[in-house]
Amino acid sequence: MKKTVLVMAVFCMSAAMIFARGVQDSGKIKIGVSMPTQSLQRWNQDGANMKKQLEAAGYTVDLQYGGDNDIPTQVAQIENMITGGAKVLVIAAIDGSSLTEVLKEAKAKNIPVIAYDRLIMNSDAVNYYASFDNFKVGALQGAYIESKLNLKSAAGPFNIELVTGAPDDNNVNFFFGGAMSILKPYIDSGKLVVLSKQTTQTQASTPNWSTEEAQKRFENIITSVKYGPNGTKLDAVLCSNDSTANGVTNALVNAGYTKDNFPILTGQDCDKPSVKNMNAGLQAMSVFKDTRTLAAKVVEMVNALAKGTQPTVNDTKTYNNGTGIIPSFLCDPIVVEPKDIQAALIDSGYYTLSDIQ
Ligand code: BGC
Repeated sequence: MKKTVLVMAVFCMSAAMIFARGVQDSGKIKIGVSMPTQSLQRWNQDGANMKKQLEAAGYTVDLQYGGDNDIPTQVAQIENMITGGAKVLVIAAIDGSSLTEVLKEAKAKNIPVIAYDRLIMNSDAVNYYASFDNFKVGALQGAYIESKLNLKSAAGPFNIELVTGAPDDNNVNFFFGGAMSILKPYIDSGKLVVLSKQTTQTQASTPNWSTEEAQKRFENIITSVKYGPNGTKLDAVLCSNDSTANGVTNALVNAGYTKDNFPILTGQDCDKPSVKNMNAGLQAMSVFKDTRTLAAKVVEMVNALAKGTQPTVNDTKTYNNGTGIIPSFLCDPIVVEPKDIQAALIDSGYYTLSDIQ
């Protein structure tokens, strides 16, 4: 245990020292920021927040989006950042395991790497990880369903279906794991029933977190199980995020569900379409992860590295990327239901009212 802490301290210090050396060589420091896609609102917001906050701190920013979740594009963009003189890389990976080769170049040039939101797997070039508490995101969704169906005391049984995200996103293990930490005992005891029998993470996954894929899969489930307002009762759908929840909502609305009989449906991100759906009674909740807070944390990490000091972390045991534990800072996610929208999303300045009307 002591040895791990020591190794990690040396690892953190050397990343800080390496970066400090890089900084001394340059005038205005360039930071490379690589985001996975522009097709989902959250990453546009993450990119914009990172750029704004890094520029305000005096850096120049090379911000790139990996096409529409296109891995070769992301790899090429990171290569260009490295050759273009970036002094630190902040990367939200499309596929957590596809950056091993390109990051060898970063390591060879002593460029520190911060994994943003999604852990980059199987690369010893990753120095830090900044994200939200991803297990808690799933646990909040599971606990929400538990409380709304009153699972602790109601007799049941209740029907539920499970929808999670991209198999190549390491976060999915935590989202699904967190939700199942609450829901699985009820599934095992028969109080919750998954009539499609699609209960494993693989069966519940959605390639690329795509709304269309989630909708297609859910339409098949509706047809095969005969769910419907006048058919088999569906009490809840666990959806790991909003883009998949939107696909499930489309399928449910097409099958005749309305706000008066809508199953309890979870989500994550408080994306605008989901906030609108919550206001319309077509999604019960979303887990809010304020991307401004995450960006601010990453800027703090970059600043600490620039000063040759160690970035602050609050987790040194959870995230092993296959080469060892990556020191992490995990921000806190919160539940947003329709009644919370005003305070959490409007009063906080995250959205204007017209964004979500
Ligand atoms: C993020 C979620 C997001 C999902 C799809 C995950 O890695 O943590 O916030 O909804 O990717 O983009």
